Amino acid sequence: MQFQSPRRFPPGPKGVPVFGVLFDYNKDPTGFSLRCAQEFGEVSLLPFGPLNVYLLSNPEHVSEVLSSQSYRFIKGVSIQSLKSSLGEGLLTSEGDFWKRQRRLTQPAFHRERIFEYGGIMTDTAETMICRWQDGEVKDIHANMMHLTLLIVAEALFGTDIAGKTTVIESALEAILTHFSNQLNTFFLLPEWVPTPDNIQFWQKLQRMDGVIYDIIQQRRKSTAANSDLLTMLLHLEDEDGAQMSDREIRDEVVTLMMAGHETTALALTWTWMLLAQHPEVEEKLHQEIQTVLQGRSPTADDAIHLKYANWIIKESMRLYPPAWGTSRQVIETVQLGDYTLEPGDTVFLNQWVMHRDPRFFEHPDRFNPERWDNSFEQRLPKGVYFPFGDGPRSCIGKGFAMMEAVLILAAIAQKFRFTLSADRKVELQPSITLRPKHGLEMRLQKK
Ligand code: HEM
Repeated sequence: MQFQSPRRFPPGPKGVPVFGVLFDYNKDPTGFSLRCAQEFGEVSLLPFGPLNVYLLSNPEHVSEVLSSQSYRFIKGVSIQSLKSSLGEGLLTSEGDFWKRQRRLTQPAFHRERIFEYGGIMTDTAETMICRWQDGEVKDIHANMMHLTLLIVAEALFGTDIAGKTTVIESALEAILTHFSNQLNTFFLLPEWVPTPDNIQFWQKLQRMDGVIYDIIQQRRKSTAANSDLLTMLLHLEDEDGAQMSDREIRDEVVTLMMAGHETTALALTWTWMLLAQHPEVEEKLHQEIQTVLQGRSPTADDAIHLKYANWIIKESMRLYPPAWGTSRQVIETVQLGDYTLEPGDTVFLNQWVMHRDPRFFEHPDRFNPERWDNSFEQRLPKGVYFPFGDGPRSCIGKGFAMMEAVLILAAIAQKFRFTLSADRKVELQPSITLRPKHGLEMRLQKK
């Protein structure tokens, strides 16, 4: 007779009966995750109500989940819950359907293609700031959100969608608020219950869908020569001649606009805050911009030569990763170190925690763009720094986002500086992304 050894569980906080650590986590998601990793080690078990959640802080485990053993996992509950608004887009879909969509969408993100978007990125930023006045106080987060939405809409889907950003912006904001409320109430209240939040969410979603479906219909009839992603998606055919349905196209459009604007806006928002707090870094950035651009507008070609600007963005995403944590659900038994995880278990990979690991980052809390010199990133083990995720489900928009962030940073820093008022405390709101809780008010100073 063979005896099976009992399953071993890693150490972790106990929390309270039934709810486990839900309340502790909710009070301070980033701080709680960091404290658990520091106190309990590289694998800790967090009881989230009925869910077994394994927080991983060993880079090898992180890399196994995202890359080498990724086929044993699907996206976690939080991303799955976005399906009610994003449908079966790239971020939320799984299996063969996801593989097909990724293959079809990939050409829009090839290097040469991204280069073509450089003009839209700089022009849109310059158009926005030409209305700004010296001394004004602005919510920089709201402004960055608006700017990056205009850019992704025009670059990927053309001016007809970019012209409708008011309706789309308000729906995307409603999706984010709705998701954040759901997360705070632990998804206990079903989405069909007619609460004011749910009603508003469905109404805005419906209005946005109306706009997107209209544009899809017009484009299907149009004979104009468009070369954007929307046209590509409309004309794509599978090996068996099947085309994408309106619903499939709508899901990709909404997903790419959502995934493609919030995160980049946050990378920039946190960067402006850090620059205001570190005038010596800001000064070096201004010097680089002056040397490389000599007063002209930045272009796609400049993005690579603005080396210090690239380091600033990387370092800002280390300290304030826009996607600060991601989860996966186990679908096939998997061994991670000493522990066996079974289908239904959840793993929590946490950029906030990994990016602050003193084994890999000297003085981890210090904002130090210079650390990215000498190919520092290439020397880091896999699973340590992953603002864009890793493996097959890594961010399709990484190249787009890096170029966009650097061009916007250069275009705006050439004309303006921002200052933070000393008495203003910036509070974090870690939901699916890492947002400033009350926006980020800053005073503009014309250069
Ligand atoms: C600084 C900006 C950005 C950051 C930090 C970021 C971060 C991420 C991360 C961490 C993931 C993986 C999520 C996971 O593993 O669960 C992801 C996926 C994704 N991102 Fe981004 N992203 C950024 C910009 C963009 C842009 C500009 C686009 C498109 C225009 C985009 C589109 C997507 C899509 C479609 C996915 C899902 C890919 C798939 O599963 O095949 N992202 N992003």
